[in-house]
Order: sequence, then structure tokens, then C-alpha cells
Amino acid sequence: MPITEAFSDSLRAHPLYTWAVLGIIMLGVVSFVLLLFISAPYGRHLRPGWGPTINATALWVIMEAPSPISFAFVYFMSDRAFETVPLILFGMFMLHYVYRSFIYPFRMRGGHKRKPLVTGGLAFAFNVANGSTNAFAITELAPHLWSTAWLNDPRFILGVAVFFTGFAINQHSDAVLRNLRKPGESGYKIPYGGLYRWLSSPNYFGEIVEWIGFAVAAWTVPAWVFAWFTATNLIPRAFSNHRWYLEHFSDYPKNRRAIIPFLL
Ligand SMILES: NC(=O)c1ccc[n+]([C@@H]2O[C@H](COP(=O)([O-])OP(=O)(O)OC[C@H]3O[C@@H](n4cnc5c(N)ncnc54)[C@H](OP(=O)(O)O)[C@@H]3O)[C@@H](O)[C@H]2O)c1
Repeated sequence: MPITEAFSDSLRAHPLYTWAVLGIIMLGVVSFVLLLFISAPYGRHLRPGWGPTINATALWVIMEAPSPISFAFVYFMSDRAFETVPLILFGMFMLHYVYRSFIYPFRMRGGHKRKPLVTGGLAFAFNVANGSTNAFAITELAPHLWSTAWLNDPRFILGVAVFFTGFAINQHSDAVLRNLRKPGESGYKIPYGGLYRWLSSPNYFGEIVEWIGFAVAAWTVPAWVFAWFTATNLIPRAFSNHRWYLEHFSDYPKNRRAIIPFLL
């Protein structure tokens, strides 16, 4: 079916869902272009002029929690919530987002820093749309996921393996960063170990790999849109981080790339 026809059908049947998915695609395009020129103003790129700020730990929880909450809310409205494959995908999504929303913010060191509310507002809106559209697609729009035959599909097996590989890379890389600071410290050092051997932002690389894996395993439009959005958001930020390291550390390893080993 041509894409325009599929879009009109979807718009007729599920207008809110369709507009939300389209909104995330467009947000990805806009943020990719903007973030290539303007570093998102948080962490090492924080600077004045972005309006009111709030404690970074609190903002992480406020902006990320809508993702697992909206996903769980929409997911459990469906009669298919206890089907095997949807439950596995639910578990993968929750594994990442319960950690990211409720554990990661309290493990960050230097988390007494502040973040502009505007960055949290955009993330909040994205997370509501992303969590709910992904849950809706899995439980209402993806018949291939409602049979256990999908457990043997190469896409599911490969996708789950890629997801957990990305998850492990993301977790390990975030842990390296966390351990660079002693409790109470807030400065920056050069990270070493794991994929830092080749990359400045392997935590972002792991995150992108993770959501590509989820998209392959779920094989739904919102899951691919999520992987797309993650890449459009994190690739430009990885460039900004890479430039920042080169500008601030004269001994920064010259062989490192920003986000894709040996390439980018
Ligand atoms: N799915 C998405 O679209 C998306 C978007 C954003 C983030 N995320 C994920 O959320 C996690 C955090 O993202 P982020 O952008 O905050 O990552 P980040 O800039 O790499 O920072 C992560 C943490 O490590 C600290 N840190 C970074 N570099 C350091 C260094 N050289 N020395 C000492 N401490 C350092 C940061 O402190 P400061 O805060 O003081 O800089 C922060 O607490 C990542 O796993 C990322 O993949 C996902």
C-alpha cells in the first residue's frame, strides 16, 4: 500500500495516534537540524539565556517518568496485555525506562546541577507521545506480535539480542562517566575503558543500538520512529560533546570518533 494511503487510513482510524507519531517524526527532523548548530543547554553545554532552571535530578524524573507511565497506562487498557510477545516488549521498554526515570537520576554525580525547564518540557511531551504510541501499536495495531510464532521470527531474535547489547553498552558507558567523579565532585575528566577507546559518547551509541534492536524486535511504526528520534537527538549532541572534549583537553585521544566507531 502506498505510504500516503496508509497514512490517510491510519488518520481516519486513529487520529490521535497518527498525529502523535507524525509529531515525533517532525520533532526528530527539527531537533536534528537545530542541534547541529545549537547544543542542547544542559550538562557541560549549560549556559544562561534559556529561561528558568530546576534541579537536574528532579527534572530527569519529571521528564522521563511520563514514558513508562504512559506506556503502562495504554498497554494495560488492552485485552492483549498478557500475551507473551507484547509482555516481553513491555518488559524491555520498562527495563530501560524504570531505570532511566527512577534510578539513574539518583545515581548521577554532580546532580545538584540545574537544567533549563524548557529542555524538560520538550522531553516530557516527547515521552508521553512515545510511550503511549508504542504501547498502542504493540497491543492494537500489530497482529504479528499476538502469536507466539513471532518468538521464532529472526527479526524478534535479532532485535532482542541487539537491544540487550545496546543496553549493556549504554549502562557500562554511563557507569564509566559516573565513576569519574567522587561523591561531591562536579568537574569533567577524560573517560577511558570499554567503547571510550573508540568513541566520545558510547552511552549515546548504546542507546541508539538499543532502540534499533527494540524496533527490529517489535517491527511497528512507532518503534522505528523512536529509534529514528533517538538518533536525531543523540548524534548531534555526540558531535557537540566530541568538539567540547577536543577544546578542553589538549591530551584528548585523537583516534576517538564522536558516536560511530571508525566512522562518525
Ligand atoms: N533517548 C534519548 O533521546 C536520550 C536523550 C538524552 C539522554 N539519553 C540518555 O540518558 C543518559 C544521560 O544522557 P546525558 O546527555 O546527560 O549524558 P552525558 O552528557 O554523557 O552525561 C551523563 C552523566 O555523566 C556526567 N559526565 C559526562 N561526561 C563526563 C566527564 N567527562 N567527566 C565527568 N562526568 C561526566 C554528566 O555530568 P553533567 O550533567 O554535570 O554534565 C552526567 O551526570 C545517557 O545514557 C543517554 O543515552 C537518551
